[in-house]
Amino acid sequence: MRVMLVAGARPNFMKVAPILRALDARGIDRVLVHTGQHYDFAMSEAFFEDLEIPTPDAYLGVGSGSHADQTARIMLAFEPVLLEHRPTWLLVVGDVNSTLACSLVTVKLRGETGTSIAHVEAGLRSRNWNMPEEINRIITDRLSDLLFTPSRDAHPNLIAEGIPEERIRFVGNVMIDTLLNQLPKAGSIDMPGRLGLKRSEYAAVTLHRPSNVDTVESLTRVLEALGAIAWEIPVVLPIHPRTKKNIEAFGLDVLLDPLMIIEPVGYSEMISLMEGAATVLTDSGGIQEETTVLGIPCVTMREQTERPITITEGTNRMAPWPITTDGLVAAWREALTSREESEGRRPEGWDGAASERIVDALLPD
Ligand code: UD1
Repeated sequence: MRVMLVAGARPNFMKVAPILRALDARGIDRVLVHTGQHYDFAMSEAFFEDLEIPTPDAYLGVGSGSHADQTARIMLAFEPVLLEHRPTWLLVVGDVNSTLACSLVTVKLRGETGTSIAHVEAGLRSRNWNMPEEINRIITDRLSDLLFTPSRDAHPNLIAEGIPEERIRFVGNVMIDTLLNQLPKAGSIDMPGRLGLKRSEYAAVTLHRPSNVDTVESLTRVLEALGAIAWEIPVVLPIHPRTKKNIEAFGLDVLLDPLMIIEPVGYSEMISLMEGAATVLTDSGGIQEETTVLGIPCVTMREQTERPITITEGTNRMAPWPITTDGLVAAWREALTSREESEGRRPEGWDGAASERIVDALLPD
């Protein structure tokens, strides 16, 4: 059996790391492909170093572009790699353009290579077709032979779309495999101390969704709202390249003045920053899950979440949408006062062993 794993963008790296470890521990033949969708040191290599991910066997170097351009270039570059290695399984994770592009190439070559597709983090749905990730998820799930879900609430979503039940396997959350593995290291880093912040006395923020940062109106609204919170508590924002580029293009630099802006941070630095925060405000997907396990109240700055279990069982809440200063400040205040009651809760299967269950499921009977 040969397994090909694809990683392309930052949120993929923490998902492939534990699966690679589990495959290597059992001596299974595997090939790691990095599409190069993310390529800056801070967005890519820093994670490989931090998470001790081995050097990729193939680096496609596709870089940025429009959706059509990026997706097409990944497909073109990936096809010869697939034909060269002819894996038994293609394992794709998450919902980025690399996930979709490599699945699409593989399904079209199935007759030639005999490769089956497995999707890790299957069945999540925001029901918002304006999100590129929603399209990527739905199509990848439709193309996959085996669908590994992180929580049981994903199953009805897949059944409703006509996916046969026998293809769906609940395995739990691979992000949490990495979180639990890296927690001791993150604990020794003290990011708040390095930044001169007092533990439990600041808000940590991430911001990069197109719905928040791609228009001058939405970006102004969210930065002004964060600025209002910064009147009350320090707000630290490791800045994503998309957000940085748009702030410059729209001439909004002055709105950053109340905030503590830092460069994008590595994985364990981010965990340390979240773990020390009073609250986290984010538009990321994975951070909703990580704060749930860390027991840190989280405010999600999006119209919907595809991870509702972080609200029903975890520490997450949605900011009123569209983002306004009053709405975000109120949601942040509620999150802050909920802090006393919140504790590290772990939904079923968020236990550090999801990757082992994935490898078990891939092995022939
Ligand atoms: C991508 C994913 C998104 C994920 C996010 C995490 C898709 C459709 N989106 O969004 O789901 O949450 O990654 O970061 O796959 N850039 C750099 N350096 C880099 C990478 C990007 O400067 O290493 C800049 C470029 O200007 C680029 C922009 O960021 O145009 C956007 O990058 P892209 O990969 O298209 O999407 P993300 O917004 O990062």
